[in-house]
Amino acid sequence: MKTTELGRTGEHVSRLALGCMQMGTTTDETTSFAMLDRYLDAGGTFLDTADCYAWWSTRGSNGGESEELLGRWLTRTGRREEVFLATKGSGMVHDLDAIWGDAPEPDWTVARRNYDGAGAGVLRSALEGSLRRMRTDHVDLYYVHVDDRATPLEETLETLHAFVTEGKVRFLGWSNVRTWRLERIRQLADRHGWTAPVAVQQQHSYLRRRAGLENGSIVDDEQLDYLRAHDDLTLVAYSPITKGIYDSAARREGHWAMEPYLGPDADARLAAVAEVAAEVGCTPNQAVLAWLLHQTSPRVVPLMGPRTLEQYQVGMAALDVELSAEALHRLDAAGA
Ligand SMILES: NC(=O)c1ccc[n+]([C@@H]2O[C@H](COP(=O)([O-])OP(=O)(O)OC[C@H]3O[C@@H](n4cnc5c(N)ncnc54)[C@H](OP(=O)(O)O)[C@@H]3O)[C@@H](O)[C@H]2O)c1
Repeated sequence: MKTTELGRTGEHVSRLALGCMQMGTTTDETTSFAMLDRYLDAGGTFLDTADCYAWWSTRGSNGGESEELLGRWLTRTGRREEVFLATKGSGMVHDLDAIWGDAPEPDWTVARRNYDGAGAGVLRSALEGSLRRMRTDHVDLYYVHVDDRATPLEETLETLHAFVTEGKVRFLGWSNVRTWRLERIRQLADRHGWTAPVAVQQQHSYLRRRAGLENGSIVDDEQLDYLRAHDDLTLVAYSPITKGIYDSAARREGHWAMEPYLGPDADARLAAVAEVAAEVGCTPNQAVLAWLLHQTSPRVVPLMGPRTLEQYQVGMAALDVELSAEALHRLDAAGA
């Protein structure tokens, strides 16, 4: 698999990253191990998890199942050195009883109020927990999972910098963060000589967010512009196929993941991607992954999250989808 440089660090990661969020909960161990084996055998290196994956999968879960599974897989295979291992802290939640209540599903409004945050103590114990679960002495990329405005950035940055100087973390990233915060983070890091983030992990796909959306997680035009001007930050795009909604209208109908994208240009974008997919002989989900892989400014590392081996195979095959300059132009222009 081809690689791309992480920011301007000189470190290269595979251009398609594998999300492990569902591994150990929704996706069973045998399937997860097979997916990991195949991904590495295909030359993939970039694995993504978080300390909180995936508490919401089932009542009684405390999160950490994905990292534990990765720890077992790394021990079994001995392939730690082949992997660029990314995890995250600050997004675990407290008071799970209140979040679940008596309902069959967790209440995300309560959950979002209950993030542990990016204070020094929280981050330190989060990182120690991640290292223990993954049975490793360092992570390659450590993200602040959910930007935390209640904790002084100085406290968070100084703590993260200490992780780097202690050799427990190699590179830093931030996720679910607004552009003005990113700029402040970088300025503070520069002023104090602290390690600056080299990756930003945001929700990003082919459909464009609708106007007026209150959401600091989905890339907007300003963030794209900022990233174009700052290529020392790599955009890692999570939910790149928006939970697989591109392939069929029936799957899109009423799907919660569509809501942020229900703008006036959505139909034109969906039609364009279906048209291009039919022309090049792939599925619309694959065409979206291919479109992301073809982006050069900013460069994008799509972070796919297959639940099954079949979904994994479909996602990986997008690496072979070539889009002509004309097709890319048509996709870019759709709904403009
Ligand atoms: N930083 C953050 O806050 C954040 C948030 C979310 C995710 N992430 C990371 O990003 C990774 C990917 O995110 P994601 O899981 O949201 O990405 P995604 O790939 O857009 O969505 C995964 C879902 O899409 C569907 N799918 C996948 N391949 C498909 C295919 N070939 N055809 C049809 N449907 C398909 C499946 O839905 P069904 O299960 O319904 O079949 C699957 O569960 C995660 O593993 C995690 O590492 C980070």
